Parts: sequence; structure tokens; C-alpha cells
Amino acid sequence: MTITGAQFDAHWMPFTGNRQFKKDPRIIVEAEGRYYKDSNGRKIFDGLSGLWTCGLGHKVTKINEAIKEQIDTLDFSPSFQFGHPKSFQLAELITSFSPKGLDRVFFTGSGSDAVETALKIARAYWVNKGLPSKSAFIGRIKGYHGVNFGGISVGGIETNRKMFGELLSANHLRETITPQNIFSKGQPMEGACLAEELEDIICSLGAENVAAVILEPMSGSAGVIPPPKGYLERIRSICDAHEVLLIFDEVICGLGRLGWASGSEAFGVTPDIMTIAKQLTNGVVPMGAAIVKSSIHDVFMDSNLPHYMLEFPHGYTYSAHPVACAAGLASLSLLKEEDVFNRVREIAPYFEARIHELRQYSVVKDIRNFGLAGGITLEHYPAEPARRPFEIAMRMWDKGQYVRYGGDTIQIAPAFAVLEDELDRLFESLEESLKKF
Ligand SMILES: Cc1ncc(COP(=O)(O)O)c(C=O)c1O
Repeated sequence: MTITGAQFDAHWMPFTGNRQFKKDPRIIVEAEGRYYKDSNGRKIFDGLSGLWTCGLGHKVTKINEAIKEQIDTLDFSPSFQFGHPKSFQLAELITSFSPKGLDRVFFTGSGSDAVETALKIARAYWVNKGLPSKSAFIGRIKGYHGVNFGGISVGGIETNRKMFGELLSANHLRETITPQNIFSKGQPMEGACLAEELEDIICSLGAENVAAVILEPMSGSAGVIPPPKGYLERIRSICDAHEVLLIFDEVICGLGRLGWASGSEAFGVTPDIMTIAKQLTNGVVPMGAAIVKSSIHDVFMDSNLPHYMLEFPHGYTYSAHPVACAAGLASLSLLKEEDVFNRVREIAPYFEARIHELRQYSVVKDIRNFGLAGGITLEHYPAEPARRPFEIAMRMWDKGQYVRYGGDTIQIAPAFAVLEDELDRLFESLEESLKKF
């Protein structure tokens, strides 16, 4: 099927260089397993599991069948004041993947919405506790928390913020990549001391004014930045000491990418609230969720409002959409049935060995990895940090390999069942692409 010029003009594409794309379109028409087919009939290896979404691969029979059956039974049901069975089933199933104590689930339509929900729960929690001044947020440089105003305020990617005027006020911790910990395999040994800055920020704001700290346990979109050993533990203890909530944004880390049910489990630190999306439905239907400690949820339920009043005036038309719930139930069941987290941990050392071989190329300035996620930082062209990753990703596409480029990095996150020889082909293509510089 050809796309006409008027059709190209009509679609303003997200996070895309629209002018470049429309001159040289990359159109994907089909997907199966770990591969796409493009409009020229070429088979393309999916080196990012969609957008960190499709860890179980594409066209998964069990998920597709669940969706079809759901559409034929209940295609939509109002999410406010009425329920349908699958949302309750899915909420309970999600809690079996969550850290102990996080057992209340609020559904959203996306990862960005899950972040806004978490931030609003944090502020409203302190209001309900009679401490309304506790409203400030602390994020981290290079953090990505979606694209809504709350998310870009706490997020630390400058280009996502600077066009949009006044934001929520938020302080940011330093990023954790340092000259001492570049080319670390897995969690860097150096850098835990960077967490001490949190103590200073909280003290300068006054703990009585701080609602929450929000971090990705491992930054994903900024190019895969695993936390230094001891760093998250220290963040947790500083939050506890000052009665500040800790939110983990697990939209990428959660549900298998790291080889564990969550980043929290992978790194052994439990937040008060966490967000998930992407892998929740294997990317097939949009859905996100904020998962909350029952002690936080109970503060809302224990308020003295009349019984018919809303405890939390927040939600989305598409919260707990029945089709998304059906997809979520099927995807999470498959994560268990196929013992996916073990499988990721088994293949992760091979992935780690292969990605770190790229260190020999002079344009490669850092390599980071954890589970089945890898990030490669490339030397900048003068004043053009984003150009080289774009050029590499385009060369990769020409070679039948899809990888993500973001900022000054290339990012790789193949499906959980990826084979060693598929990784060999991916990294050989990357080597050929890097050699040309
Ligand atoms: C950590 C994190 N939070 C939030 C989001 C936003 O999710 P969505 O694009 O579904 O709104 C993303 C998306 O990549 C993410 O990686």
C-alpha cells in the first residue's frame, strides 16, 4: 500500500525528525516474532523490542486471541464509577510482580500518565496527612518520565523541557555517569556517593516541603544507565530519614527487561510508589499503572469524606480499558509460563560480552548494560551530539537492523527470547557501521 504525499503531510509524527523522515520514510508493515517487515519487503531485526515494549516478541498468539475475545465480549466499559472483571484480575496479577507491600494498582493509559498519577498521589497523600506544604519534587539529570508537564518537570533531559515554558518546580540530582565508572559492566562500582547530594537538596528545601523523589532505577531513554552499587540503597535511606516518598519509574525496567520482575527487585531497593507501562501489555494495547503501598492507599480511604465522594479525583477515560486488561492478563501470564526473567538472566552475560567488544572503536566513548538493555555513547561531532547516533541508526536500518538513537547514544533492547546468533548479527552490523568513522 503506497502512502500519498497528502497523507505524509497530514501526520505530524512524535519524537521524529519529520522533515528527514518524509524525504526518506521508514515504513513498517508487518511484525512477527523478533522481526519486522518494511514496505520494501525487507526483514528487519527488532533490536529495541518495539519501543522497549514487546519483550515477548510480536504477534503473540495468546495475547492476540485474548484481545479478539475481549473485543467480542466487552469492547469498552466506563472506567469511572463502574467496573469490569478483568481490571480486578489484572490488578491482583500485577501485585504478584510488585515488590512486597506495593499492592494497590491505579490504571492509566500510558507511561506518561502513570508518572503524572504517581506525582499526584504523592502530593495528595501529604495533603491527606495534614502536611500540604510537602509538595516539592526531586528528579535526576538524564531522567525520563514521559512528556506531560509533571513528567518533563521532574525529568532531566534538557531538550524535552526547554520549549515549554513554565514547569512544576523541581530539583535534580546529578546524573550517575562519571569518568570513573565509564565502560562498567552492569552496575558501576563507583558512584554511590553521588546519592549524598539528596541529603543536601532536601535540607536546603526543608524536608517539610518535599513530597517525593522520582527516579528510574536504571535510566532507559537517556541511554541505559544502571545505578552505581549502593546508590539506590542510600537514596532510600535518605528518603526514610526525611519522610520523603520514593517513586521508581519502572516503565522500562519493570516486567523483565532487567531479568527481574522489577528494577526494585533487581537492585534490592523498594520504593513507595512505582510506575509501569510498555511490557505490561507487551505493547499491544496502550496501558500504564501506578502501584502504591497499601499504607499510602489507606490514607486516602480513611479520609472522612461522605461515602459517595471520590477519595482521589483523578483517572482517565482509558484507565483499565477492557481490551488492555485482556492483553495485560495474557502478557503477564506468559512472563510466568515462559520463565522469562530467568531466560533474560541466562542470555544477559552473552549480550554484555558482545556489546562491550565495541569499546575498541574510537568513536565509542562509553558502554553500559544490564539484563537485555544496552547503551553506547558516541563521540559528538562539534556541537552536534545527536548526529552520529542518527547516522549509525540509519546505517543499521539499511543493514536490516532496528536500534534506537537518542541524545548521543545508541540503545539496544532485544526481545527476551533473542538467540545468540541474532545478537551476533546485530553487533556485527554495529561494528561495520562504527568502522566507517
Ligand atoms: C521511564 C519512563 N517513564 C515514562 C515513559 C513514558 O511512557 P509513554 O511513552 O507510554 O507515555 C517512558 C517512555 O519511554 C519511560 O521510559
